[in-house]
Amino acid sequence: MRSSTIRCFTIFTLLLIAILPHGHATTYKLLSSPFSTALETLQKQLGYNFKSIDLLRRAMTHASFSEENNKAFAILGATVIETSVSFHLLSKDIDISPKELNRRLSQITNVDSSCAVDGTRLGLHKIVRVSPKTNSSTPAVVCGAFRAIFGAISIDTGKSDDAGNIFWNLHGGDLGAAVAL
Ligand SMILES: *[C@@H]1O[C@H](CO)[C@@H](O)[C@H](O)[C@H]1NC(C)=O
Repeated sequence: MRSSTIRCFTIFTLLLIAILPHGHATTYKLLSSPFSTALETLQKQLGYNFKSIDLLRRAMTHASFSEENNKAFAILGATVIETSVSFHLLSKDIDISPKELNRRLSQITNVDSSCAVDGTRLGLHKIVRVSPKTNSSTPAVVCGAFRAIFGAISIDTGKSDDAGNIFWNLHGGDLGAAVAL
């Protein structure tokens, strides 16, 4: 009775050892899917590595693809972007007029001329997951994904400062030049 239990245990252990390498192979395959590879490249482009890559995964998921999508992240991201722009413009010029500041903010929040352009430059239309019927190149989809990145970074870091600075580094070049004129 006892020796057969031991034998069973030995067989079970040997089976486990036989199975484990396959388990690793499966994990490896999942990690190196085209979507995962794209997320790796995107992190390099952003100059930010997520502690929780699931947040970036969600940021790159349109509502047409999954219930678990980037809509709420995009709302946070939009406010992070506005805060970053207000902060940097006022830091550069403490006497900027409210009218000018509002003009800059409305430029930045424009879907077609601003965030869809930034998002397309990052290649988000090729990364964001959408349903087969959804065109991932439309400004609304690209813009939502772009904004969601900054929401996701804020959640990942537990504050909005880094997310705002990463946005500024990506976009601020043009803005800074325009302000200096
Ligand atoms: C998808 O949207 C883009 C941008 O609006 C447009 O240029 C393109 O023609 C659309 N593609 C299809 C297949 O509708």
